[in-house]
Amino acid sequence: MLHPNLAVNENGHLTIGGLDAVDLAREFGTPAYFIDEDMVRENCRTYRRAMAKYFGGNSRPLYASKALSCTAIYHIVREEGLGIDCVSGGELYTAKTAGFPAAWIYFHGNNKTDRDLADALDMGVGTIVVDNEDELRTISAMASARGCTQKILLRISPGIDPHTHRAISTGSVDSKFGRAIETGQAKAIVAEAMSLPGIDLAGLHCHIGSQIFEIDPFVDAARIMTAFIAELKRDLAFDCRELNLGGGLGVRYTEFDPVIDYADAIERIAAVVHQLCAEHNIPIPTILLEPGRSLVAAAGTTLYTVGSVKEIPGFKRYISVDGGMPDNPRYALYASRYTALIANRAAEEKTVTATIAGRCCESGDLIGEDMPIQPARRGDILAVLSTGAYNYSMASNYNRIPRPPVVLIAGGKATVAVRRETYADLVALDVL
Ligand code: LLP
Repeated sequence: MLHPNLAVNENGHLTIGGLDAVDLAREFGTPAYFIDEDMVRENCRTYRRAMAKYFGGNSRPLYASKALSCTAIYHIVREEGLGIDCVSGGELYTAKTAGFPAAWIYFHGNNKTDRDLADALDMGVGTIVVDNEDELRTISAMASARGCTQKILLRISPGIDPHTHRAISTGSVDSKFGRAIETGQAKAIVAEAMSLPGIDLAGLHCHIGSQIFEIDPFVDAARIMTAFIAELKRDLAFDCRELNLGGGLGVRYTEFDPVIDYADAIERIAAVVHQLCAEHNIPIPTILLEPGRSLVAAAGTTLYTVGSVKEIPGFKRYISVDGGMPDNPRYALYASRYTALIANRAAEEKTVTATIAGRCCESGDLIGEDMPIQPARRGDILAVLSTGAYNYSMASNYNRIPRPPVVLIAGGKATVAVRRETYADLVALDVL
C-alpha cells in the first residue's frame, strides 16, 4: 500500500489506521474525509525530533494550516508542540478558537487587509511575516498607535525555481510573494524595517513552493538566505535571530512518487546553514520550517460511493462518484495525480484504467484520468488516497453540494471532527 497506515483485511477490504473502510463508509456516509490522527502526530514528531537534533532546541516546525484547517487539527499540532502558520483572519480565528497560544502564531499573506492586521495585533499574534513595504508601514503605524512593538519576519524571495507546478512555485524573482534579493529590494526593506517605530525585525522568511521532491532547491534556498543574512550583518549591522525556511517538501500521491526521508532532508538543510554561518562568522539563527502537506496529506483518505459506470467504446471508461471537484479540486487545478482503489475489493488486482468523474455539471470535474483501478460497480466504495492536504481546505459548495465531514482516526477509533454540511447549512447565509 502507498502509506504504512493502509492495509487489506481478511474480507479483502481496505483498512485505514486498522479500521475497515467499508464499515467507515457505512457509519459516516460518503463522501467523507478520513484523517489518520496517529499518522499526523507521528509526522509532527519526525519534524520536531529532526529539527531539535540538527538545528538545536529553539528551532521548531510550524504547521502550515492552509493544508488542512479545522479546530481539531490545531489542537493536535499544539499538543505536539508545533507553532502555526496562519494566512487569513479565518485561520487566525480558528487557531484562536482551538486555544492556540497567539505567541506561537506566524501570520502570513501577500495582501493582509487592514482588518487582518488589526485583528492580529489585537490578539497578540507572535510574529507577522511581512510581505512588502505597504504592509510594513501599516503595521508600524498600527503598532505605534497601540503603543506596542510587533515582532516581524520579512518574506524574501531567494530566486529559486523548483520543479513543481507553476501555480505552486513561489520563490522566483517574478513572484507575487515577498521581496527579491536579486533586485536589491530585499535589502532595502530590511533597512526600512530596522528604522521603523513599532517594529521588531527578528529575521527572514522564504518559501520556494510546494510538492517538491528534490532536496537541492531547499539546500540552495538555505544557502542563499544564510549568505544574505551575512551580507545584512556586514552592510547593515543586522542581527538575524530567526530564519524561517518555509514548507514545500513533497508527498507520495502515487507509487511513482519517491518516498522522502524528511529527517534526512532536514539534516542536509541544516548542514549548509551551519557551514555558511561558520564561514561568515555569524551566529546560527533559530530555524523554523513550515510543513503543511508533508504533515497531513498522506494521513488522509477520501471515501466515495460509486454511482454510474460508463464505457465509451474506443474511448474511456468513466466511474462516477458522489463527490468530485467540490471536495477535491486538485485535478481540475493542477492535473494532480492520485491513487484510487475499490475499498470493498481492495485485494483484487487493478485490471482496468478509468477516468474517475465527479457529479458536477462540468467536464473538468474529475478526480483523475487513466487511473489504474479494480473494475467498479454501482454501490462500490471508492477510496482516493493522500487527500489530507489541500482537499478539505480547498473544498467548495459548487453546485450547492454540501461539504463532506472530516473524521479523525486515532487508536483504532473514528470520531467526527467536522460534521457533514446539511442543505440547511447551505441556505443559512442567504438573508433574502
Ligand atoms: N509556508 C508558506 C508561506 C506557504 O505559502 C505554504 C504553502 C507552506 C508553508 C506549506 O507548503 P507545503 O509544505 O504544504 O507544501 N493548493 C496547492 C498548494 C498551495 C501551497 C501554498 N503554500 C495544492 O493543492 O497543491
